[in-house]
Amino acid sequence: MKLSNNAITVLEKRYLTKDLEGRLVETPEELFKRVAKHIAKADSIYNSNADIEKLEEEFYNMMTNLEFMPNSPTLMNAGKELGQLSACFVLPVEDSMEGIFDAIKNAALIHKSGGGTGFSFSRLRQRGSTVRSTGGVASGPISFMKVFNAATEAVKQGGTRRGANMGILRIDHPDIEEFIGCKSDTSEITNFNISIGLTEEFMKAVENNETYKLIDPHTKAIAGELNAKKVFNHIVDMAWNNGEPGIIFLDRINKANPTPNIGEIESTNPCGEQPLLPYESCNLGSINLGKMIKETKDGYEIDYNKLGETVKKAVHFLDNVIDMNKYPLDKIDEMTKLTRKIGLGVMGFADVLFMLKIPYNSEEGVELARNIMKFIDDKSKEASIELAKVRGVFPAYDGSIFKKKGLNLRNSTTTTIAPTGTISIIAGASSGVEPLFAISFVRNVMDNDKLLEVHPLFEKVAKERGFYSKELMERIAEEGTLAHIEEIPEDIKKVFVTAHDISPEWHIKMQAAFQEYVDNAVSKTVNFANEATKKDVEEVYVLAYKLGCKGVTIYRDGSRENQVLSTVKKE
Ligand code: CDP
Repeated sequence: MKLSNNAITVLEKRYLTKDLEGRLVETPEELFKRVAKHIAKADSIYNSNADIEKLEEEFYNMMTNLEFMPNSPTLMNAGKELGQLSACFVLPVEDSMEGIFDAIKNAALIHKSGGGTGFSFSRLRQRGSTVRSTGGVASGPISFMKVFNAATEAVKQGGTRRGANMGILRIDHPDIEEFIGCKSDTSEITNFNISIGLTEEFMKAVENNETYKLIDPHTKAIAGELNAKKVFNHIVDMAWNNGEPGIIFLDRINKANPTPNIGEIESTNPCGEQPLLPYESCNLGSINLGKMIKETKDGYEIDYNKLGETVKKAVHFLDNVIDMNKYPLDKIDEMTKLTRKIGLGVMGFADVLFMLKIPYNSEEGVELARNIMKFIDDKSKEASIELAKVRGVFPAYDGSIFKKKGLNLRNSTTTTIAPTGTISIIAGASSGVEPLFAISFVRNVMDNDKLLEVHPLFEKVAKERGFYSKELMERIAEEGTLAHIEEIPEDIKKVFVTAHDISPEWHIKMQAAFQEYVDNAVSKTVNFANEATKKDVEEVYVLAYKLGCKGVTIYRDGSRENQVLSTVKKE
């Protein structure tokens, strides 16, 4: 296998099997063999004559050629005793002591197995309301979230990664203002991303500068009224301050809920790309677009034949994962198999733009995103329909939106854009649908490891065009952008744009273009320059709403001390 040094570092540290003394007992090839073998087995459930070996080889080749990667838990746990294969879970938090502590226990089990958990705290009664059994007062969602946070801190995920959580509160919860500000100190609630669940009613009230109603979650009575614009500004202020909270458009997410017949969506997974019903889990996988390219006379183009074939195999793979998964709870097993959600997405989109010489921040770039994602979404549905012919439609099909459309699908969702934080390093691809953070940068991975990277396509072009030098590469690493470096030709500067060269509007336009053809959601950070104003943030929120995004996460450069990605200069 052709793996980069960074990929080998990551694999050795957390993915390859070790013996009790911590010695590696697996090569990368053996890892992919283990995964392919385990996942291929599911075919025998449906067809006793299935050619499992052939399928195993297909899956193996797709991974070792770095064309497709399943999410980390599948790579880590397939074919092993733990056997938990999903990255994403959502757990309900009921308004009772038992309910709250059940959720904490279940989250611990999930974290131990490498999965991340999302919760809505909206059902918890507000701080100060009465508790009938004790006659005391309720502590409210934020104080309980701190207990969830402490529990997460204590459980390191299966010795592999730290537990990640999403915490969501509806905008009409009486404690919403406290929640909006609960991460203004970044040393608090560190194991949570938080997002505000916005409703259509709220967005209308913001637009018309009206008040909106707070609802007591316990009694359903009106518990007060707030000025919508004021609350909206509070969210903007906090996000401007350090990137938290994010926002999600709850009603829009529920409009796209494929199975309203079995429940309402209250939360997403930790990074926001996967809305799920309580107790649902989802396994993700991503196609490396950089490997879906063919050479032409005068450059490169997307190899749609190869992409189509890869989508088909990937959907088959992910549907098999559902059957081979060992779920941390019976209830999760049951819910996951009712809807059979899978989340196929992409990585390496920025790499492809470099190859095709198309700027990320251009209509052409956004158009390419639409074309690629529409194609993948269509092909994934075709593949799911093919699977349904043999395996049946997903069990919650009656009453689903697909029953009405007459689409016999095996999976109630097929597409999601994951962040691909680690699997993109393994595949040597740019992450998800993000632009490059810098042409050269230091990456903090897995707690405290640092990796320095220069983008190979840039290096290649620089050599071809004769402006390559070690000093120049170092200067680019310092600057973090090509924009102010005179030696670099204009056409190169235009194509090799990085996150900070791209205005927030283009970030959102790109997110919206992918969202158009994605069942679930799109993991995307909208980067702002340090000088960006609160007004800029507000405008992007409104644009995201108008363009049909399901949520927004923003980050203003330098607004948090411990950035995941930073250029050399800011280290
Ligand atoms: O690249 P990898 O498969 O490791 O994961 P990702 O695409 O960066 O993240 C996908 C999902 O995995 C996240 O949205 C979380 O649900 C989960 N995750 C987690 O639980 N803990 C982490 N440290 C990273 C990701």
